[in-house]
This record gives sequence, structure tokens and C-alpha cells, in this order.
Amino acid sequence: KRIPKWMPKVVMKNTTKLCSSKSIVTINGKFPGPTLYAREDDNVNVRVINKVQYNVTVHWHGVRQMRTGWSDGPAYITQCPIQPGQSFLYNFILTGQRGTLLWHAHISWLRATIHGAIVIWPKKGVPYPFPKPYKEKLIILGEWWKADTEAVINQSMQTGLPPNISDSHTINGYPGRVPGCTSQGYTLHVEAGKTYLIRLVNAAVNDELFLKIAGHNLTIVEVDASYTKPFTTDTIFIGPGQTTNALLITDLQTTGKYLIAVSPFMDTIVAVDNLTAIAFLRYKDTLAFPPPVLTTTPAINATSETSKFMDNLRSLNSKKYPASTALLQAHYYNISGIFTNDFPGNLPVPFNYTGNFTGGISTSNGTRLYRLAFNSTVQVVLQGTGIIAPESHPIHLHRFNFFAIAKGLGNFDPKNDPKKFNLVDPVERNTISVPTGGWTAIRFRADNPGVWFLHCHLEVHTSWGLKMAFVVDNGKSPDESLLPPPSDLPKC
Ligand code: C2O
Repeated sequence: KRIPKWMPKVVMKNTTKLCSSKSIVTINGKFPGPTLYAREDDNVNVRVINKVQYNVTVHWHGVRQMRTGWSDGPAYITQCPIQPGQSFLYNFILTGQRGTLLWHAHISWLRATIHGAIVIWPKKGVPYPFPKPYKEKLIILGEWWKADTEAVINQSMQTGLPPNISDSHTINGYPGRVPGCTSQGYTLHVEAGKTYLIRLVNAAVNDELFLKIAGHNLTIVEVDASYTKPFTTDTIFIGPGQTTNALLITDLQTTGKYLIAVSPFMDTIVAVDNLTAIAFLRYKDTLAFPPPVLTTTPAINATSETSKFMDNLRSLNSKKYPASTALLQAHYYNISGIFTNDFPGNLPVPFNYTGNFTGGISTSNGTRLYRLAFNSTVQVVLQGTGIIAPESHPIHLHRFNFFAIAKGLGNFDPKNDPKKFNLVDPVERNTISVPTGGWTAIRFRADNPGVWFLHCHLEVHTSWGLKMAFVVDNGKSPDESLLPPPSDLPKC
């Protein structure tokens, strides 16, 4: 099943969901797309062949891309898009990486339909740091609009109004139950008395999500392809771009059918999206039509649930701490005028970001990059500033796993908050929620030269400008330098 060499095709596919059909942009006609199975240290070669009338790029979300920044994928950040009829070879090595990640289109809103999982098994002979699962099951969460998603965002950008919310969430491609429209749902088939490894991916476009399985607990063992200290919970909180591996231990003697429910978390002032997607867990030997055991997910604004979940995430070992024209072309070829380095540095402190903030209320688009010296240890405090519609933002940093060392409500206090930093076992992630009207502090080592995108993984916020990039300079030795660009790098 390993496919480190792959030639996926971008093709249109007529798809019916919620009793309504439309033509969508897909990889190989699949929604969600095919899974990339690989092993730690594999050299992955994916030639993406674009057969549609849209420009496309593909991002390998969470892949470290050591010296291969050309293969990271965000359009106009590391590459110009692959144009209709063209192809591009993404080539990277999964050095020291194993776990669950995701790939997705990274241009406009194409990731709504172009996404899939990356499953990276540990090196041969290296066991998981938890009991060997009987079977592994992949669950990919998505979001579905009956309308064309490119039209949805284009209209929003033109009118300045928020885009229409999705019509449903999806579980492995199947939407929830909609009145008046019977659709088949996803069924997770299990046997009694076994341990399953659930690999959960949130590929939704704009929503952080809760997931719950009636009558069953889940033991989290990994997030964003980084092992965690196991902790058991009945509810998973997962932001778009995040992945969570959990053990599901089935009951010894059970038959029956159990609801799997997925609903959004959105603690904005106006909670607008509350569709619950459903699927079922079904024991083998269950008779034809059992009444399902039901459950309910937390309320849409259940902030305390999200906070509790995140506080329980701790990395397995702490020893690594803290070691642990596209912009990239402009950087590599020293082309001036494409970006500027005048990223605002230290803002006047103290400053009440969440209270009397009277500055501009919206983000602006720009190409100011923040420059980092090779191998520097970087601490970033992500401060939520919104006062009009504060909400939780799943912020994603490309190609780094960072340590989430603390979070808090209100304004970050540079004097007292560092005392709260977890410098022992902070969870290691590539995407982290910045709490509503609060802050999150992260640390990472800038050990990979290139241009690396940082943005909110609620896609509409990326459209609106909640994004920036770091430039990491080359190190001194040649093997600390960005490799030359591939010969088939697309032209703008
Ligand atoms: Cu998963 Cu920049 O994205």
C-alpha cells in the first residue's frame, strides 16, 4: 500500500450530496482524495498532473521539507501555480517524521474538495509507543457546500461580506442527515474486544470541530504527527489542518450501533453554523436495524471544553525541547520589490489588544516577511486582538513542529506570563488554536532555510489576510542551504 511514487491527476468530477449535484475539482475523482501511505524517511515523489481549467498547487501540511522548500506548495508563497495542462513534481523526504498528516490544495478555496490524508508508518521494526492496534481506521472530516466553493469565496471577496456557511460537514465524504434527503452515511465497522487506531484528519475549510462517539472513550496518543502522553476523553476537539490519532477500545461483548457526531466550535458573538454530521460505529454481528445509541456533542460555543482538551495535550518526551514570482523565488534569486522585510517588530508594550484597541479592525494583505537567522530559536506570541467578532483561530506554521508552551486569556503579559511557560512537556504541533480574545506562545528552531507560511487555517481568514511568512536564511555550510529550484517549477 506504500506509494512514495505517485502521479495523481486533478480532474473534475460530478458529485451528488445532500440531494444536489455539482462538478467539483478533485484528485483522481475522489472526495476525500486518496491517502498517501508512506514510511518514515521515504523519499516521496508526487507528480501532480493538472487536467482542469483551474490553477492548482498541493501542500503537504506538516511535512518538514528539509531544504526542499520548493515542494511546500502554497501558491505564490513557494511556487507559482500549476497551470491547466501542466504538471509539477513534488519531491521531499519524510526525514524523521511519522504519524498522520494531510495534503491539500493551497490556492484560493480548492482545498474544499482537494484534500486527503498522509499516513506515515514508523521505520520498519520500530513499534508505536502504545499497544499495537488490531486495525487502523482513517476518518477525514470535511465541509460541503451545495454551491461552487470558488463562487462562494469570490462573491465574498467582491461584496466584502462573510461567505455563505457550508451546508454540511462530512465524515469520510458523507454529510449529515438533512431533512427530506436520505443519504447513505459512513459506517465504522468494528469487532468486540479490540483496539483500533483512529487516524482523524480535519480537512474542513472554515471550522474547528468536536467529535464524539456514543458510549465510547478515545485515548489520544498523537497530534499533528507527534506522540502525546496518552489521555482519555469522550470528546475530541480538532481544528482544520490538525490531525489526531486516538485509540478506540471496543467493548468485550457488544453488538449494536453507536452514533458518531461531528459539530463545529465557533465562539464568535454570532454562532452561525451548527450542522451536525453523523456516522455510525457498528459492531460485527449486529442484527439488521438496531436503534442506535445516541450522544450529543458540546455546544457550539463550549469554550471550556476546547480549553480542557488542549490543556491535556502533553508531548511524550521533553528531551528534544527546544531543539526541536513566489516569495520563495524572490528570496532565492534576490529579486527585490516582491516582498519587504519591514514586518512590524516590537509593538508598543504594554498595549491592551483585547480591550481599548482602536486601530484598524481588519487585517490587510501584504508581503512583509519576517527574517530569521538560520538555526535561531524563535518564540512567537500569537495575540488575538479582535473586539468586533473575537473567535478562536487555528494558526498553522508550515514545515515546523513548534512547541506550544502556554496560552492565556486577555493580553499576554510579558512580565508574568512567561512564568507559566511549560518548558517540560509542551505539546508539539503544526497548528494551534489561539483562544478567543487570548494568546498562545510557541517556540521553534529555524533550522530549515526557505520561506514559510504562517496563517489561520480557517480558509476564509487566510483570504481576508490573516497570514504572514518567515524567511529563514541559509546556514553557513552547504548542507544548511536551500537546494536549487526544480527544473519544472511552474512560471507565474
Ligand atoms: Cu494546511 Cu497553509 O496549510
